[in-house]
Amino acid sequence: MSDFDDKLKKKTEMAEEVIESYLPKEETRQSDIMRAMNYSVTAGGKRLRPILMYEVAMMFGCDSELVKPFMAVMEFIHTYSLVHDDLPAMDDDDYRRGRKTTHVEFGEAMGILAGDGLLNYAYEIGMNAVVNGKEIEKKAKALKVIADKAGIYGMVGGQTVDVLSEGKELDKDMLDYINERKTGALIEASMMTGAILGGASDEETKIIEKAASYIGMAFQIQDDILDVISTSEELGKPINSDEKNLKSTYVTIMGLEQASNEVEWLTDNGIELLKSLNRDNDFLFELIKKLVNRSK
Ligand code: IPE
Ligand code: IPE
Ligand code: MG
Ligand code: MG
Ligand code: MG
Repeated sequence: MSDFDDKLKKKTEMAEEVIESYLPKEETRQSDIMRAMNYSVTAGGKRLRPILMYEVAMMFGCDSELVKPFMAVMEFIHTYSLVHDDLPAMDDDDYRRGRKTTHVEFGEAMGILAGDGLLNYAYEIGMNAVVNGKEIEKKAKALKVIADKAGIYGMVGGQTVDVLSEGKELDKDMLDYINERKTGALIEASMMTGAILGGASDEETKIIEKAASYIGMAFQIQDDILDVISTSEELGKPINSDEKNLKSTYVTIMGLEQASNEVEWLTDNGIELLKSLNRDNDFLFELIKKLVNRSK
């Protein structure tokens, strides 16, 4: 195992531990909702958003205890977006993170409710963090960014345009609009939260936001590429989901090779912007670089 792989493994385990510590207990008469929520969260996943948040926070010398609840907030919101993305009314997919999707395992009503539960619980964790302990202002500012980026001008907005565009041939501009929101926005929120909690200036936070936007767009294009070239075993989710749903993607409008070049271009831009801040975090830079050729 390379030095980087070893570090990534340890950081992923750390993120898992943090996330697990915030799972709701499966108790009360409505314990089914907690079971369905925990089923999707504990199925695994790369934990990329909490790791990115943590690494940016470290770049700004943040106290690691301050960032932990927000790692869980982000992963819960991201997981809810996946649970709902897989619903029959949306992408209608049966596998996620190597398991049956939540609505397949627990029924459609529980799929909807588990998503709702994860979204609301994320803000319960976030508000708890805001009102308890030190650095109230930084924490409130971070939670506001998360709320904005997850909402109708961010992820939900992107998902809206995405589903309404099924069956249409989109141009690059429209695809960028969708990707920037449906995927870019939560990656921006993750990295900006790390910066804000670490005490970054508004100017530095803006640069992080722009870098994260590039990284998020690259991440979605690579996801679209993997939907075509990977296997369901490797991804833990079905392949050819985009074709099934008649989605326009970078792959359909410009082909695999051009799409790959675009991932690289966007990633290089993102890393360059991060490096312009003159703060070291070689692990973070390498992680972002490695996302270009990721296989899942
Ligand atoms: C999948 O996100 C949805 C996209 C935004 C492309 P991830 O690829 O980060 O999914 P997990 O968290 O590892 O399962
Ligand atoms: C979804 O994009 C992005 C979300 C906000 C969930 P996709 O529909 O391509 O994500 P996957 O491929 O199902 O993970
Ligand atoms: Mg989708
Ligand atoms: Mg999908
Ligand atoms: Mg996809």
